Amino acid sequence: MKVGVMKGSLREFDLADVLQVVGLGRQYTGVELSLGGGRTGTIFVKSGQVVSASANQHQGREAFRDLFRKTEGDFFVFRDETPPELPDPIGSLSTLLMDAVSERTASGYPRPMSYAPSELATHPGVAPPSPASAPTPTALPAPQRRSLPPRQAAPAAFGSRPPAFAAAAGGESKVLAFASPKGGSGKSTVSLNTALSLARRGHSVILVDGDVNGDVLSAIDARGRAKAGALDVVSGSARVDDALLDTVLPRFKLMPAVGPRLPDLDAVTLDPNGGWLALFAELAPRADIVIVDTPAGMFGMTRSILRAVTHVIGVLQAEVLAARSFGRFSEGLSSLPDQRRPEIVGVVLNMLQTRHQASLGVFQDALSDLPSSWLFDTTIPRHPAFLDATQQGVPLRQLDEEAPPPVAFLFDNLAGEIADRLGLRRTAAKPQRLLL
Ligand SMILES: Nc1ncnc2c1ncn2[C@@H]1O[C@H](COP(=O)(O)OP(=O)(O)OP(=O)(O)O)[C@@H](O)[C@H]1O
Ligand SMILES: [Mg+2]
Repeated sequence: MKVGVMKGSLREFDLADVLQVVGLGRQYTGVELSLGGGRTGTIFVKSGQVVSASANQHQGREAFRDLFRKTEGDFFVFRDETPPELPDPIGSLSTLLMDAVSERTASGYPRPMSYAPSELATHPGVAPPSPASAPTPTALPAPQRRSLPPRQAAPAAFGSRPPAFAAAAGGESKVLAFASPKGGSGKSTVSLNTALSLARRGHSVILVDGDVNGDVLSAIDARGRAKAGALDVVSGSARVDDALLDTVLPRFKLMPAVGPRLPDLDAVTLDPNGGWLALFAELAPRADIVIVDTPAGMFGMTRSILRAVTHVIGVLQAEVLAARSFGRFSEGLSSLPDQRRPEIVGVVLNMLQTRHQASLGVFQDALSDLPSSWLFDTTIPRHPAFLDATQQGVPLRQLDEEAPPPVAFLFDNLAGEIADRLGLRRTAAKPQRLLL
């Protein structure tokens, strides 16, 4: 039976974005396109594979490419029962997307510098970036003819869990920071929306704002609400329970960065007494996962936070300037002492603009230059819904509870990937009575 999932206009939501949203799920999903003038088409996807594509005149890859050339029309996404016999897929979604989008765009782009620092290049699976392979500015880079590879072990240097933390907080603690060398890459947006999706999946989550500018609370327009924050706890002037805020979701708690007054910033930035480690050790047993939004850059306060967390995710903005500085992500982590280096869970690409070759170029380079285990399958497109959400002071999902913007579902995909990579378990929730 066909069950409608979402519909909209291709002008507002590019076909590449639609497929990103629905293409990785395990359900058999169709995208029906009405392109005007009686032209229609359908693409079926399942588990990251394009199962079939048909346009008025064509079938298979040809049809997929044909449909991709359209930027005007409407789409309707539906789930359907998987047929008893699936045909051989026509290709992996990521490969077909890259081919189709590369073909659609005409101009070249300057290749940003490589992401991986030199010592990572020795790890098998990390292709050392070679200057000879850089495309000339006028030529399109050859599309990566491979699907996103399965996750491999992270480079040995990054695999160690800080024993100091494990001892302080108990074995299986998950304290996950979102970090990026460049400001404005979307750390606060991605950490807030991912934390919410994890909570909706049934995990108990505490989101800690580690940025003195109070980014998370700014994003939800609630800066005035904080009586105390993480930095107050770290500096010893407040207790954890004074700083934790409840949210409308019982499994989701939030700790702002600061209260109305700023604590001694030098002390919390340099953190000579291990205040961040003590804070996370106290929070970790209270939730399945603690998520930490860090300030821009890999040094200063971010470095003190990174020394105290167990895991980290890099947020890479799909834009050339951000890509140029992303090497600092690995460098910043490499420069931490072995015992205090968080494990890299992955890198999430944010603000992908599938209509811009430069933005796609960052995606392609990330695919080829980053260790293959790092990049998540879910990428987040640049979308105006984020601006609406910030303006309304709510996470994307809460913009419209009945019909959230389609891009909000991407965070459910991302949360699923993160939970899988972390082996995150859910705390069994007590069954709720129906009547209040
Ligand atoms: N995918 C997206 N599409 C459109 N706008 C986005 C997207 N992601 C984030 N933004 C917007 O970009 C701006 C910067 O995002 P955000 O504050 O999350 O970045 P940040 O990395 O936390 O910044 P900072 O380094 O200053 O803490 C915000 O206005 C946010 O709404
Ligand atoms: Mg921020």
